[in-house]
Order: sequence, then structure tokens, then C-alpha cells
Amino acid sequence: MEDEQITQELKALIQAGVFMDPLLMNTYFEARALPTWDRVQADTDGMYRKYAQVHYFLTDLGDIPFSPRLLRRCLVETVMSTAVYIANETSGAVIPTDDHLVTAEDRVEDWIEIRGIGSLYKLYFVIAGYDFLQPMFFHRHVYEADFLNGARHYPYTPDALDDYLMAALARGSVRIKSHRCGRVIQPTKVGINRFHLIRQSLEESGYLAKRIAMSYVYQFDTIEDWDALCNIVWPNAVVLRQSFLDWSSIESDQNVLEVGCGTGALTFDCGLADRVLPGGHVTAIDVSSGMLDQARRKYTSYGSVNHVELTQASVEHLPYDDNTFDACIGSAVLHFTDAKRSVAEMTRVVRKDGIVSVLQALAMNTFGPFFTEWFQPVLELARKNRRTGAGDYLPTEADVRSWFTQAGLTDIKVQIVDASWVFDSPEVVVQHIVRGVSFFQAEMVYLPWDDQRTLISELIDRGRDVCRHYPLSERIIQLPTVFIRGRKP
Ligand SMILES: C[S@@+](CC[C@H](N)C(=O)[O-])C[C@H]1O[C@@H](n2cnc3c(N)ncnc32)[C@H](O)[C@@H]1O
Repeated sequence: MEDEQITQELKALIQAGVFMDPLLMNTYFEARALPTWDRVQADTDGMYRKYAQVHYFLTDLGDIPFSPRLLRRCLVETVMSTAVYIANETSGAVIPTDDHLVTAEDRVEDWIEIRGIGSLYKLYFVIAGYDFLQPMFFHRHVYEADFLNGARHYPYTPDALDDYLMAALARGSVRIKSHRCGRVIQPTKVGINRFHLIRQSLEESGYLAKRIAMSYVYQFDTIEDWDALCNIVWPNAVVLRQSFLDWSSIESDQNVLEVGCGTGALTFDCGLADRVLPGGHVTAIDVSSGMLDQARRKYTSYGSVNHVELTQASVEHLPYDDNTFDACIGSAVLHFTDAKRSVAEMTRVVRKDGIVSVLQALAMNTFGPFFTEWFQPVLELARKNRRTGAGDYLPTEADVRSWFTQAGLTDIKVQIVDASWVFDSPEVVVQHIVRGVSFFQAEMVYLPWDDQRTLISELIDRGRDVCRHYPLSERIIQLPTVFIRGRKP
């Protein structure tokens, strides 16, 4: 496929609500052996038998070799990623229901009816090809043995890696050469060129951005003790959330929706549930079942009261009627979402004169010498990939204001405060910054899987050095944070 055509096909794929992400499938689902995964394998068998007829492919495969095993993986992974995508769109859940699976199968079948199975298979080559070539591109070569046993391409399962290799060899993207300690796979000029074009298409079509957005969906599920992490990294977070609640003027007897409640820090620890007493109600939602499990434990300790309800849902698609709540609030959540859409949803579900109020960390440019020294490898990656720098994934104050005005909110009030971000305890900081707040997500997506893990260990080591050389007082960043509220006219 020509690169312009690849970009268009990828855009059309996103437009059709079909999502294809082998990484997501292999890390999250296959590794956990979820029952849904088995079901998709069985369901896509029929599709596979239907489309594996070679004559369907003859016309438009170009120089891409046909592998029945890769076609099977393409179908399973596309249906499954699409089902996760639909689950997330409709209910905020990560694990799809049977209905989500049926809708996903329909969407994938529709795509194939209109565009042909060859088109889907070719896009699979583009996306998996990107993951495949990434380590070769970064390291100039990988040992064939490492490649075949998945050491470099984990989480791709080893059972299909030989097919990827044969396909890449057949297309001239890589060659095998003898090397001092064994055979290595090297990218050819064609492969390097192909890698650049693929990456450009994945960026331009919005696919990489979508992959990052989807990774937020499940990353919170894997953080076991978010509160303990937060207490170390954001020691004044409780006080900050409390002053946000005061400032938001949530009152007794109000019916409040809290979005992205996480472990229930705002809900229980900072007193939202108490504040609406005696006659009010709090509905707290979050997409992550892992975070909600932690919130449920607090709910039980709080007395399993009737006036608080915890529900799994996404702020981007709130499952509530228009004009339902007196107020809708959220802390530290919008930057994980399509914020414009989220604020519009929050506005939709509050009544006339109701309040929408948010606590949101803001972008900053300078982090101090300790930060540059500690995170230099990631900052370098950001520079190479032409991004302005770490932290630019956070919005500016103007961005946040515009989400509010575009949602039609009026009487907008803003207060800027500082959140102390403490860089002590390297393991915790790195886990938090990489996985918790996804500060470097846009950089990580450019790294091969294996190198992401290596980078994380390197950052922990660098952190140990930095903590020895810089006093704690110089390792605290005051992150500007906005409290913003508006009224629904
Ligand atoms: C940084 S935590 C903040 C949690 C809590 N509000 C607090 O102040 O501690 C962000 C939370 O937003 C949730 N989240 C991310 N995307 C979301 C979405 N689309 N809808 C609802 N919650 C979402 C995450 O699961 C996570 O629990």
C-alpha cells in the first residue's frame, strides 16, 4: 500500500469504530487468560474459515505474503481490541460483555464486506510490522534466537513470531546475518524506509494517539496500592483535594456526580460523602475496575451507606439522563480522557444552574536540574520525536478554560494553586510517573516493548544517583494546578 493510502485506510478503520492493537491484546488479555479471550478465539474461527480462502486475497495483497496463522491472529486481535474499545465507549469497562463482542464481530465483518479481507490483513501488517521493526530499528539488529523466543518482542507470543520473521524476510524488510555470538536479524534499507513510512502513517492517522488513549484504560487496573503511591509522591494531595471541595461549594443535600473517583480519595478521605449529608447523594464513577475495587473497600469501611454509589463508567459517555445532578466534579482525571467531550458530558448531566467543577494539573516547561538529570533518556526521546517536552501532555490553563466555555458553561471561576510533587524514593516515583500519571506515555510509545522495561530500570538507577546528589528540598516541584468551575445556564 502507498503510505498515503495506508493513512487513509487507518483513518477509515478508526472512523468505523474498529480498533486493532496486538500489544493491548497480548499484554492485557492473553496474559490474564480471560474467558472472553477463549470465546473470541472460538467465535472468530467461523470468520477465519470463511476468509482464509486464498481467492479472497489474490487481487489486493501486493507483495505481502499470506500466512493462515497471521490471518487468524489478525481476526482474533481485531475483534477483541474492537470489543474492548466498544466496552470502554459504552460502559467504561475494560472487559467486554457478550453483547460488546457481538457488536465488535459485526463491525469487523462490515469492514471486510466493504473493504475486503485483504485490506484488514494489510493493516495488520502495518501495525504489527511497526512493533516488529521497532527493536531492529532501535538496536540495528536483534539476535535471531532472542527474537524467536520472544525476548525482544514480548508480549507477542512466540508461536507466531516465526511467521512475522518469514514475512519480513519475504518482503525484504530484514536480512539474517552471522554475527560473533550467533545469527542476527537486521533491517535492510527497505525495512528502515518502511518503518519510517509506517510510523508516519500511524501518527498522521491518529492511530498512535488512540493506542495511547486505550492504554490509559487498563493501566490503572494494574496499580495495586494507588493511595500508598500518592501519599509519597503527592503528600499534600489530601489537603489540596479538600480545599478543592471547599472551593467547589458542594453543599448538603445535593445530588453529586463524581467522575474518575479512583480509590475514593475525594469521595471518602476528603469528605465528599459527608458533605452532602443529610439528604444528598454521591454517585462516583471510574473506568478502572482495579481502582473501583480499592474504592469499594473504603465504601465498606465507611459503612456501606445508601447515599453513596460506586459505578463503573466513562466520563466520556455518562450513562445518565440530561439534567440529573446538582453538581458534577472530578479531580486529576480529564487529561486521561478526551477532555472536551468529557466536560460536555459532565455539563449535559447537570441541571440548569448546576455546577461543573474540576481539579486539573497544568503543563509546565521547566522542571529543574535534578529532573533533567534524572529523566534525561526520556527527555532525549521526546526531543528526537520532535515533541516540545515532557509534561506537554498536560493542558494549559487556556485549554481548560476553553473546554468549559465550549461546553456552554458560564460564570467560570478559576483558582491556580500549587501541588507539591516530591521526587524521593526512586522506585515509587518512576512507577508513578511512568504508569500512574503516564507522564511519558507519548515517549514510551516510540520504544520497543523490551526497551520500555529497560528504560524503567535505568530511570530507577538514575533516580538513586540523583537522590544522593541533590538534597530533598531541590527535588520538589510545585506543579501548577487549576481549580475551575462553571454554571450550566
Ligand atoms: C490520577 S487518578 C485520580 C483519582 C481521584 N480522582 C483522585 O483524586 O485521587 C485518575 C483516575 O481517572 C480514571 N479515569 C481515566 N479515564 C477515565 C474515564 N474516561 N472515565 C472515568 N474515569 C477515568 C482512572 O481510572 C483513575 O482512577
